[in-house]
Amino acid sequence: MEICVIGAGYVGLTTAAVLSDRGHTVCCVDTDLDKINLLRRGEVPIYEPGLEELIAKNQENLSFSASPAESVRAASVIFVAVGTPSRPDGSTDLRYILSAVDTIAEATSTYKTIIIKSTVPPGTNEQVYLALLRKGLAPELFDVVSNPEFLKEGSAINDMIHPDKIVIGKQDTDTTSFSVLQQVYKGIDAPIILTSLNGAEMIKYASNAFLATKVSFINEISRICDKYEVNIEDVKDGIGTDPRIGPLFLSSGLGYGGSCFPKDVRSLEHSAQSRDVIPHILQAIQNVNATQIDIYIDKLLEYFEDLTDKNLAVLGIAFKPNTDDTRDSPAVSLIKRLSEHSCRIQVYDPRAKFPHPELKNVTQQETCEHSILNADCVIIATEWDEFVQLDWRQVKEWMKGTYIMDARNCIDAQSVRSTGLSYIGIARP
Ligand code: UGA
Repeated sequence: MEICVIGAGYVGLTTAAVLSDRGHTVCCVDTDLDKINLLRRGEVPIYEPGLEELIAKNQENLSFSASPAESVRAASVIFVAVGTPSRPDGSTDLRYILSAVDTIAEATSTYKTIIIKSTVPPGTNEQVYLALLRKGLAPELFDVVSNPEFLKEGSAINDMIHPDKIVIGKQDTDTTSFSVLQQVYKGIDAPIILTSLNGAEMIKYASNAFLATKVSFINEISRICDKYEVNIEDVKDGIGTDPRIGPLFLSSGLGYGGSCFPKDVRSLEHSAQSRDVIPHILQAIQNVNATQIDIYIDKLLEYFEDLTDKNLAVLGIAFKPNTDDTRDSPAVSLIKRLSEHSCRIQVYDPRAKFPHPELKNVTQQETCEHSILNADCVIIATEWDEFVQLDWRQVKEWMKGTYIMDARNCIDAQSVRSTGLSYIGIARP
């Protein structure tokens, strides 16, 4: 099939690469010419394991363009995977979606299946359908389908090839799109959830909100466990074996971040309020998340009365491992908060760049060792394998002090303590 993917971000690039690998002819378009030129040279602007290789492998049927109209005209299936940023009030800014709608309306003269992959608030797909009609597009020339994506950064390709479900939201009158999507995803084996346009949008939001709830829940439980000297890992294992709860997304730490959970939970809160529903749980999970860093700062201040002139090493900048994405990263928020204490902070991340060069007491180092040298305290803020596998005897040699704060509950407290270093965690007695 001839497919056009509008938007060359995480979702757009992964969709384009995977569908071209499935044998479709795909053109991925973006208005950012620099990004397109980079992609044309075979370089990928983001770090996502396996993506560069998959794009290189499919050069013959995957192209990149900065001319959306041309690519829309040539394709029968259009994926919209543009950004949907937050406005200051938490609502979703749909300007890139609406600009894609303008392009599609202008370039369409033959039938298109328009698939909205971007995460959008309930009601947006219907709005897109009506906007296309208002722009004069004849109803027999298009269908709008909501097909949200559930991939995670760091494992995006695998998540798209082996999804746990494919959600398809369509209008009752639409008798074409289901079979089009079956062809698009031919060979990708997953249960299909067929629902309305609003239903698909809600599945996506509810899914991210529920996962964020699990994270905030376990973080709140860890605060309580800390006061009763209970190991949160035991509690996690104990409750995770119950199939009604499940073991995943129960890792406590600095809280959730990234480009999805914070934005989507706020947007769902806004959607609820705009229809006079008070979203008590959504508000509570955001409150827990927003105060999670305080818990770690307070803990640190129990060990160091004053952080002035202390040398801190922070390992991890990305919002989670296996990505260079620092959007809404709890690690970045922690570093910013620490930098207010007139201490010296050496940060290191295998992939991510610290996004605040204006903070003069924060220096990014090229290696883990350089960030740790002479540190009074090492703080693990992102659970990269490189940090989990550190040789703690070696770390002790590099450090001046003895404190290791594990803000992601990812290292073995016993092996740290056995070297004579002091392990600091929340609910990790
Ligand atoms: C998330 C969802 O997991 C995907 O299903 C969804 O497609 C995606 O958002 C999206 O909407 O595009 P992602 O943002 O890549 O994916 O990251 P996650 O792996 O979900 O992690 C989100 C945050 O929660 C991270 O900061 C992570 O460190 C934190 N987290 C996760 C915890 O603190 N504890 C956990 O147990 C799990």
